[in-house]
Order: sequence, then C-alpha cells, then structure tokens
Amino acid sequence: MFSQQAEREIDRLLARYPRKRSAIIPVLFIAQKERGYLSDDVLEYVAKRMGLTYLDVVTVVSFYTMFYRRPIGKYNIQLCNNVSCMLCGSEKIQEHIERKLGITFGQTTPDGRFTFTEVQCLGSCGTAPVMQVNFDYYENLTPEKVDQILDSLP
Ligand code: FES
Repeated sequence: MFSQQAEREIDRLLARYPRKRSAIIPVLFIAQKERGYLSDDVLEYVAKRMGLTYLDVVTVVSFYTMFYRRPIGKYNIQLCNNVSCMLCGSEKIQEHIERKLGITFGQTTPDGRFTFTEVQCLGSCGTAPVMQVNFDYYENLTPEKVDQILDSLP
C-alpha cells in the first residue's frame, strides 16, 4: 500500500518494540506522510500490518489532532482556543484568520493552501495566544504577526 521505503521503515519500527502496538504513533505518521491523511482503508491496512483491530487504530487516531481523517491543505493552521489563549485574545486571532482566508474551523481554502483547525492546549500557555502551522509554533500572536507569518509561507 505504501512506498518500499515506507514499508521498510514500518518493518524497522515493528522490530524495535517488544510489543508491535507500541509503534502505532510513528507508523501512523508514516502512513499519513504517504497518503496525506488517514482514510479508512489506510487504517484497516495499518491495523492488519500491526496485528491490531481497526478499532484499536481508529481510537488512537481520533484522540490526536495531529492525525488527519480527511484531506487537508498544504498548511494546517492549528489555533489553540483553550483557557490561557482565550484569555489572551485567541478569539481575535480566530476572527482575523477567518476574515483573511475566508474559512472557519474545519475548512480548507478552495486553492488547497490552508486548513484552519481548532486545537486544545498546545503546551505553551505562557506565550499565549499560540498557533501551530504544520509542525512550527508561533507565539504571542497579534493579527499583524499572523499576517506576517501567513504571507511569508512559500
Ligand atoms: S491554552 Fe493555549 S497553549 Fe495552553
């Protein structure tokens, strides 16, 4: 189902742990990198490959916002809306991004460039409000800073 390189990497991970299920997070990352998101057929394949059930795998996937169940944009803007960020103005940031991109939480721009996702605490409450774009953190956000960040993405 995946490239030879990805399959080899999965083999290596499965051999590393005494219990195969311990490798589920890195295996899911490989699957997502290969396919862009984790569809049902990918989850079935991962479950079979790891000797798990579909339910074992889908419950892990549904717990973490870093796993995608549907196609997403090139850049996934994950804005924290938890208490510290909310108290420090995340709603203003949310409104600014919605206006700027014309999308709200859970949506992707028509050109496929941006997906906007609401997430819970990103673990950086002291620098709220915070967003994560793919794997990069951006802190102490202001609308101006958001413009700079999004406008500078290649
Ligand atoms: S509440 Fe936003 S990073 Fe913790």
